[in-house]
Amino acid sequence: MNNTEPRTQPFEDHPDRLKWNARYREPKRLAPRESCPLYEQAAKLGYPEGPVLELACGMSAQALAQVGAGREVLAVDISNVALDRLRTEAAEQGLGTRLTCVEADLNAWRPPADRKFALVICVMYWEQAVFDYAWPVVADGGLIAWQGFTLDHLRYRASQNPDWCIKEGEPADRLPAGRFSVLHEEDIDEGHRVIRRMVARRTQT
Ligand SMILES: C[S@@+](CC[C@H](N)C(=O)[O-])C[C@H]1O[C@@H](n2cnc3c(N)ncnc32)[C@H](O)[C@@H]1O
Repeated sequence: MNNTEPRTQPFEDHPDRLKWNARYREPKRLAPRESCPLYEQAAKLGYPEGPVLELACGMSAQALAQVGAGREVLAVDISNVALDRLRTEAAEQGLGTRLTCVEADLNAWRPPADRKFALVICVMYWEQAVFDYAWPVVADGGLIAWQGFTLDHLRYRASQNPDWCIKEGEPADRLPAGRFSVLHEEDIDEGHRVIRRMVARRTQT
């Protein structure tokens, strides 16, 4: 290999995969979170018929609920431990066929170019580049919903990598002007973390 070729991280040893697999094996993580305010907010605002894309889904009980409600769900995460649990749960509930789990590094993965999603949702993961490829696959009238730490979270956890924190104005100001309406945006200081939730609808063309 000459030194101009990209050096790719072997996927199996990807540090995010190792870190999150270890976390998902902890007993306190055995049960997925029952409720998710971002999903609830999206449901309140409403979105059209059609598939859902959940990025960094973990063991998302809400992805399963979407499948249970008849939607196709494409669920992407780097942790095979989390996705194995999600697949097992889906199979046990007889929901396997409409759920597609993809084990991937979101920095390298790209959504299928020929699909549009009624809801694109991501809870507690932030990378600008990921958001930038996520909004284009939202269907007309569909929603993009995002939640992540803001820079204010550094007050509680100074060691947090600022690249993984949503900056002032983001993610709304990364959406193309005139093609989305921001319907919901709030910063929440929970006393141990500061997060932002944003939901925007793609304008009908
Ligand atoms: C804070 S957890 C959030 C999980 C889930 N969305 C939730 O709210 O419970 C972050 C998730 O991002 C996933 N993740 C971390 N780095 C990733 C990467 N490079 N590519 C894909 N997923 C990644 C982890 O495996 C983990 O499931």
